[in-house]
Formats: sequence, structure tokens, C-alpha cells
Amino acid sequence: MRYTGGSKWKKHKLMMKNRNLQPHLPETAKFTPEILWNYLRKYNKVVFKPVIGRRGRNILKVSRLGESQYEIHLKNKKNIYTSEKETLSYIEKFIRKRKHSLQRTYIVQRYIDLATYENKPFDIRVVVQRRKGSSEWHVTGMVSKVAGKGFMVTNNGLSGGIVLPVTSALGKANDDIARNRKEIMKEIERVVLIATKRLASYWKKQTIMGLDVGVDREGHVWIIEGNLCPGIKNFYKLDDKTMYRRIKNIRRENNKII
Ligand SMILES: Nc1ncnc2c1ncn2[C@@H]1O[C@H](COP(=O)(O)OP(=O)(O)OP(=O)(O)O)[C@@H](O)[C@H]1O
Ligand SMILES: [Mg+2]
Repeated sequence: MRYTGGSKWKKHKLMMKNRNLQPHLPETAKFTPEILWNYLRKYNKVVFKPVIGRRGRNILKVSRLGESQYEIHLKNKKNIYTSEKETLSYIEKFIRKRKHSLQRTYIVQRYIDLATYENKPFDIRVVVQRRKGSSEWHVTGMVSKVAGKGFMVTNNGLSGGIVLPVTSALGKANDDIARNRKEIMKEIERVVLIATKRLASYWKKQTIMGLDVGVDREGHVWIIEGNLCPGIKNFYKLDDKTMYRRIKNIRRENNKII
């Protein structure tokens, strides 16, 4: 089992300690049936995901369609359940399928209505780095991940989605977002640096961090999750390899220093 350190739940709790981050963190709690119904009443749509992420696998979107009517979206399939009992029994069966007990720990998170590119939701992977010996963090790369057709997760390995430069994705989202895309990118940078410092105060040896950032349809910036071992393949997929090279160079230099 790939384990990238730090459960989503632990990282969420850590980030929540910073008041300035709170408005940018979708409400999250460990799964219990009560939490699920509470959140569904409050938000109508939630995400149900394992605390140990697996690149978009085993993530459900649960939506409340009406009185005792729920929709569960897994991969590119949606099913409707017509009672609380049926819905919960699907979810409990889903949890039991996982082999390891750690994999059976799930969180419920408010679903963020992500901005879309050609009607497909996208989020943004932001890479933040520092040089060994320095405590100054810098955003060294940002790339948009667009979900594949019919998927709610944007991880492109799983959903078959594409990557795009952030300005292109924001520029093709709704008019408000397109118009304000420069300010939104600045806001992403600001929020992500606060989140990174917060996580780095616990994982002191980290020199790289990857944050999944969502921009909702109103242009508000949300931190979906923080990754301690971010992959950088998505940056290689862009035509312009500047960010990819920059990230790799800093990483290489850091690896040389013991
Ligand atoms: N609360 C949310 N609202 C909207 N979309 C979400 C939400 N949570 C997750 N997603 C979508 O699902 C994708 C995967 O979720 P997340 O990044 O939390 O887990 P993961 O990628 O499987 O974990 P890991 O990176 O540790 O392997 C996100 O990139 C995003 O597209
Ligand atoms: Mg992720």
C-alpha cells in the first residue's frame, strides 16, 4: 500500500488550527452515519474519502436529491438510492471492501462546486518548495487538472482527464473567474503558503509540499488536501517544461545536501 505520510484527517486538523486558513478548508469530519446525514442536510453534497489517499481511488460523492433520495457518484457512474437505510448500507459495504484497517478509515467532507473547463470540474495542484537550510517557502509550480468525462475526481491517471496551464483553465471557467484570474492566482499563492507553513511546523524536514486547491464557481479558494510526497508528472505533461525543470532542480539540489 502506497503511504505518503500523514492522514488527510490529521493534516486537516493541523491546518484548521490556523484561523486564517479556516475559511479555505471545506468542513471535514471522520465518518459516522450521524456526520454523513448532518453534512448532507447542511450542504446537500459531500465527498466520502479514505484518510489515506490513493490518487483519486475509492472516493464517493454523495448528493441529497430530495426527501430520502440520494445519489452516489463513483468513478464515472451514478446510482440513486431511495432511503437512508439503502444509502448507508451501500457505504458500509464499500468500506468493508478495503483490506487494511487504515484503509477503512474515511472522512466526510463538504463537496466544493468546482469551477469547470468545458463542463468538467478542475482543481489546481500547487507545488511549494524550500531549499534545505532555508525556511523560506516558494510556490514553484501550479497546474490545473481537469476531470475526465463523467468523473468528479480530477486525478488524471484514474479519470483520464487532462492538465492545463492554470491561466487557461481559469480563463475558460465562468466570466467572473476569467476576469479575476490574476487575483485568484495571487490568492491561491497566499493561502497555499499559509497552509504549507502550518504543515511544515509539524513535518519539519519537508522541503516540498503539494496542495490540491479548488476554486469554486464564485472564485473562492479552497484547500482540498495537502500532500507530503507530491508527484510532478503532471508538470511534465505541459508543453512548457519551465515549472517541471524548476521543481526538479530544487529537489535535486536538496537531495545532494545531507
Ligand atoms: N471536497 C471536495 N470537493 C470537490 N472535489 C473534491 C473534494 N475532495 C476531493 N475532490 C476531488 O477528488 C480529487 C481527489 O481527492 P483528494 O486529493 O482529496 O484525494 P487523493 O488524490 O486520492 O489523495 P492522494 O493525493 O493522497 O492520493 C481531488 O483532486 C478533487 O478533484
Ligand atoms: Mg489529491
